[in-house]
Amino acid sequence: MRKQIAAANWKMNLTYQQAEKLLDEILGADIVLKNHQLTIFSVPYPYLLMTRSEVEEEFNGNYKVAAQNCHHKKNGAYTGEVSAEMLHSLNINYCIIGHSERREYNAESNALLAEKVNICLDHFITPIFCCGEPLQAREAGVQNDYVAVQLRESLFHLPADKIRTIIIAYEPIWAIGTGKTATTEQAQEIHRHLRSVIAAHYGAAVADEIPVLYGGSVKANNAKELFSCPDVDGGLVGGAALVAADFIEIIKALKQ
Ligand code: PGA
Repeated sequence: MRKQIAAANWKMNLTYQQAEKLLDEILGADIVLKNHQLTIFSVPYPYLLMTRSEVEEEFNGNYKVAAQNCHHKKNGAYTGEVSAEMLHSLNINYCIIGHSERREYNAESNALLAEKVNICLDHFITPIFCCGEPLQAREAGVQNDYVAVQLRESLFHLPADKIRTIIIAYEPIWAIGTGKTATTEQAQEIHRHLRSVIAAHYGAAVADEIPVLYGGSVKANNAKELFSCPDVDGGLVGGAALVAADFIEIIKALKQ
């Protein structure tokens, strides 16, 4: 079975003390993940090491840590930035790339994101590559084309043996932080579409290996239904990942 993943995206939330407490509560639930299941905590840079040492003590190594962004250049005079090489030197093996908030507030283009994907892979970091359409595209019925372009322009330069190692998160912008969730039909339809776009370029075997997570108002009470869709392989979770009891339910909702 493809990897099934509950990924928390804390964004710019929580003090250090709150973050430690939240992790303690979630890890204290002692959820033993199966081999095909992962839980990933995408945390602010200053909390990466603390989070890594907390999850390292856990069970079977299926709890992981991610950064929320990295710079597209290897190193240099870029004050305030963090490189993939630095993350690798901290033994951080995952990084969110192209979240819609970064596309919007930091003007990250598909071409720039291709560079970020490359630099992550060069440093043994698995990109959690985000795509997803704005409301206008959904209302105009062009969401399938919109997300296909995002994949093509940021990922399709990769050889098959690289793209098969990444994680994709489909996050419709109109559903992020709004309490509006895609219906299971909408989620399944576009996840299947994403997989078919990958299959058309790389073949079905490669497309079948890549986990595609759903993001956008995943909650404790809708996770199980969303994750039950055949092409939805878990979720990238913002708000509900900040509440221990809710995120615990979301982890438990992963396909068994
Ligand atoms: P949300 O955020 O769960 O609060 O909608 C998801 C995300 O932005 O990754």
